[in-house]
Amino acid sequence: MSSTRETFLRDSEAPGTQASNVSRQWSFYNPVQVTFGGGALSRISELVDGRRYVLVTYGDPHFREIAARVIASAGEPLVVIDDVSPNPSFVSLAKSCALLGFPAESPEAIVALGGGSVIDTAKVLSASSGDFERVRRYLVDHEGEEALGSVPIIAIPTTAGTGSEVTCWASVWDTGAGRKYSLSRPNLYPEHALVDPELTLGMPRMLTVSTALDALSHSLESIWNVNANPVSTNFAVLAASEILEVLPPLATDLASLAMRSRMATAALLAGLAFSNTRTALAHSLSYPITLQYGVPHGLACSFSLPMLLRAVIGQDGECDEGLRRIFGEDLLAGVVRLTDFLTDLGVSVLAEDHGVPREVFCDLITAAYAGERGRNFIGPKDLVLVAEEQQWAALSRPGDDAGRSDSTTPPANRRSK
Ligand SMILES: [Fe+2]
Repeated sequence: MSSTRETFLRDSEAPGTQASNVSRQWSFYNPVQVTFGGGALSRISELVDGRRYVLVTYGDPHFREIAARVIASAGEPLVVIDDVSPNPSFVSLAKSCALLGFPAESPEAIVALGGGSVIDTAKVLSASSGDFERVRRYLVDHEGEEALGSVPIIAIPTTAGTGSEVTCWASVWDTGAGRKYSLSRPNLYPEHALVDPELTLGMPRMLTVSTALDALSHSLESIWNVNANPVSTNFAVLAASEILEVLPPLATDLASLAMRSRMATAALLAGLAFSNTRTALAHSLSYPITLQYGVPHGLACSFSLPMLLRAVIGQDGECDEGLRRIFGEDLLAGVVRLTDFLTDLGVSVLAEDHGVPREVFCDLITAAYAGERGRNFIGPKDLVLVAEEQQWAALSRPGDDAGRSDSTTPPANRRSK
């Protein structure tokens, strides 16, 4: 049965594809040594190699157990920082940096065991040398670069999605001022990414889905990006194709190590892709949605993807080619597939279902274009606003079951307020 969403997406003609066949220069760089595989955690002793290290992780029992394995293998750390909070803020990071300042001997390595928040915190610790004010000054006042340090990081991701284990930046949130900063330094690439899919086995469904959608967003955002190049796009195509295939069954079989491993590989590839392009409009749009409406990062940066895919079709030949390798020849059908993919996972593509009023969402789209990441997006704003209008008209009609989030899985992210 042809759904309303399919009808509306096919009603309007896609803009003509403009082939970009001009040979252009590009480069790709990523210095992170990656070790991947089940049981890879056992290599931690070899990687720490007797250095004085700080262990950064979460404080709950699940992570304490893994941290104990790290310590049993690599020896006692100088200090354990285990009070990392989601979306690390100025306040929490200042406390963590102060803890780093206590050891009598300076650390020679930082082991980051956890999700994106832990790895980002480790990067801030690395740059701070125990004094968060140095980082704050650099981020806010754009001063004091010479005062920033660099302690080698061994990143051990326990979620499949962040990509932070292969990038040189960290998200830092000033929740008081309602701002998100990116601490970006070439010497913040982790020395080593130790990716052990077994460590993701304990992650609950919502976290598994949210982080995987973050990785999907990283991959698509690196394709419709002014900085895209053939290497990043190839990584991204592989990553997105795999996530579209493996996430739905993984979401109902969280104990499958085989699918966890595929998802971890896809997230790593997505990380490599956007490590060279950075993200684009979906991420720029997501930051205020996370800050002001509390929507988890992975959901906030993914529910707009069908809208952006619709808007970007025909804008660039290489981009279209990459997207066709993921979605097939008919990219408008790809918009439908992506919408259904998210909806079936319980993630509505409508902003209002995430607690964001439609008029606010449209203003946020305009504002997102002014952001650094927003300027990476190759699609024009007027087409995004048209796509938003079409999507809203088709999917928000009362009683229109074909267009609504209609899966048997309740929209876990739909807010009650
Ligand atoms: Fe992200």
